[in-house]
Amino acid sequence: MNEIKIFAPASVANVSCGFDVLGFCLNPVGDEMVIRKVAQKGVRITKIDGVTLPYETEKNVAGVAAMAYLKDHPAAFGFEIEIYKKIKPGSGIGSSSASAAGAVFGINHLMDSPLPLKKLVHYAMAGEALASGVPHADNVAPVLLGGFTLVRAIAPLDIVELPTPNELVATVLHPQIELKTAHARAIIKKTVALNKAIQQWGNLAAFVSGLHTDDYELMGRSMVDEIIEPYRASLIPEFEQIRFAALKTGALGSGISGSGPSIFALSRGKETARNVLDAMENVVSKLPIAYDIFLSEINTQGIKILNQS
Ligand code: HSE
Repeated sequence: MNEIKIFAPASVANVSCGFDVLGFCLNPVGDEMVIRKVAQKGVRITKIDGVTLPYETEKNVAGVAAMAYLKDHPAAFGFEIEIYKKIKPGSGIGSSSASAAGAVFGINHLMDSPLPLKKLVHYAMAGEALASGVPHADNVAPVLLGGFTLVRAIAPLDIVELPTPNELVATVLHPQIELKTAHARAIIKKTVALNKAIQQWGNLAAFVSGLHTDDYELMGRSMVDEIIEPYRASLIPEFEQIRFAALKTGALGSGISGSGPSIFALSRGKETARNVLDAMENVVSKLPIAYDIFLSEINTQGIKILNQS
């Protein structure tokens, strides 16, 4: 096998209750990538379609993740990477994660998959570190493993795969303002009051329990962020109004997707999710901002192979 074409999906990190540790994988939106074995050693980004991003391997998240993988698992050949970008950088639905995870997935596959998917998270995180200044795995883990994932620890890496209740449907609104993760992280206070921390670990634990027991109400009342969203909310126009509209229309929960500006809602069933989409759109459409909005089932597969030769 010399070439693989993959679909690297978007993802929602944090899910309001689990900053930097919780995430889930989306379905309809994602990048396509072609990874090819070539004789010349090293990694070269040979095509980036759809957006302007650096071609230099060491400045590109896919390139950096690929090099991190190859440093530990040297190959007798090299790789070319083509990226057909559909996830807008700075959108909050894991644009850099899709590229980083896709690169390591593709290279591992072309090397006959010496590493299980969970082990690839470590290398994809090198790309995340380049994008945001801090290594975190809450997007790359669900992209590689599918469904919901929990990052118990990053050093050493300990990823827990969580169940996906089958009636959960996400609504994702992307107001088209670019928000850099590094900026959205820089504004967060580095210390947390104990009472907020207590509330937050209660929320995260209860949300995870809700996933295990199909308790949609429990998931809903646990999707609350006492710590991070209050700082970031002001970066997103009409965030509170959009969230309120989603909750009023029946969403179980709603919050900032990753570091924003995208806003997600989780609903029980497609019909409610569709109503939530209409309600969120009703607010955002009055703003002078372009936007995308879509429904997504939870993608339990993660990265998908489109073809290989
Ligand atoms: N957990 C990260 C953050 C996700 O909120 O900054 C964005 O990459």
